[in-house]
Amino acid sequence: MDSLTKRAIDLDLSDPLASYRDRFIIEDDLVYLDGNSLGRVPIDAMERIRDVVEDQWAHELVLGWDHWLHSGTRIGDLLAPLIGASKGEVAICDQTSINLFKLASASLEASGRTNIVTDVGNFPSDRYVLESIATAAGGRLILAAEDPTARELAALLDDDVGLVSLSHVAYRSGAMADGAEITKLVHGHGALMLWDLAHSVGSVHVHLGEWEADLAVGCTYKYLNAGPGAPGFLYVRRDLHEKLEQPITGWFGHADQFGFTEKWEAARDVRRFLVGTPPIVSMAGVEVGIALTTEAGIDALRTKSTMLTALFIEAAKSLSSHGIEIVTPLGPSQRGSHVTIRHDSAFQIATALRKRGVIPDFRAPDLIRFGFAPLYTTFAETIRAAEILREILELRTYDALPATRKGVT
Ligand SMILES: Cc1ncc(COP(=O)(O)O)c(C=O)c1O
Repeated sequence: MDSLTKRAIDLDLSDPLASYRDRFIIEDDLVYLDGNSLGRVPIDAMERIRDVVEDQWAHELVLGWDHWLHSGTRIGDLLAPLIGASKGEVAICDQTSINLFKLASASLEASGRTNIVTDVGNFPSDRYVLESIATAAGGRLILAAEDPTARELAALLDDDVGLVSLSHVAYRSGAMADGAEITKLVHGHGALMLWDLAHSVGSVHVHLGEWEADLAVGCTYKYLNAGPGAPGFLYVRRDLHEKLEQPITGWFGHADQFGFTEKWEAARDVRRFLVGTPPIVSMAGVEVGIALTTEAGIDALRTKSTMLTALFIEAAKSLSSHGIEIVTPLGPSQRGSHVTIRHDSAFQIATALRKRGVIPDFRAPDLIRFGFAPLYTTFAETIRAAEILREILELRTYDALPATRKGVT
């Protein structure tokens, strides 16, 4: 047994979070390293979803809405501490892309300016949405270099920029931005700051309140394990609620939802950013995911995540002679919970890994991401993935595999 494998076994034995793996349905022997895309299934989520269907929907029918109606803000309050927000500032609703549209449109309009800044490596949906908003406002989307530093951003900020929107942990590189520093810089230029927390929530510390962040959005189906298509979340700092005009004026955002009045009137609190009926079955998954994460504690999760990524990076470093480049920052405080490598044959290598039971994902044109979900990923799995990667590279088994992409990668 080599020294890294032995270290991994020891780390699993002393892992304070080890028992959380038993809280998930794991009936396979896959090395699942794609929890940064879709988390595994918590056993409690299966049970809670069954309860919602069998005990609530089946028996209560429409009367269930008496307790389902405010799920978005009730569960938002449960999420708030995980992102450093206060009660009444977070809602679970819609998808991340839609939440981004609502908050970015409202904030650009409130700024009275026309341009938005993001970075070229930001998630495509974010870039598309932001570009359409800036264009509709008569302005443009300005693209910073991938994973920009505060200094690089500063060079792009002028009086026309009303909003800066970045991912806190970048979906491609896994690089983690300095939330406090960038928010301060953006405010110094009179613009608002919107963070995409899709790859942060449940895996790294987020202090929206301390950063004085204005706005945030994110997904629940990644490290929160809420299930495929589970709704996203949004955060709006309390003092901004009444200053922002939500562009999708649905009945869930109305001050008197059941008044059925002729005109829309915004609710005075975070509910004004809601639109329509929440997906109650999926909401059960969100609530369980938040509860599990809260119970494990973000300090312990972050510590383990950093150790998992460090172990993988240490093993992957020795693969540079096979054309592997580690894209993710090597400094632990500068990265989130996934590690990205670059290789000219990345798609074929990702396919070869899947064939060997290791599930990472491929991001065009040449990246493979390995996501380490601290609630259930083990150190032994981490080293096993690196070892299988080494074998594939040494034997070049990927050479014979098709180089053309099909379906979900
Ligand atoms: C960083 C980031 N932002 C936004 C999204 C889009 O989320 P949704 O499809 O739920 O709108 C994703 C999806 O993976 C993402 O990774």
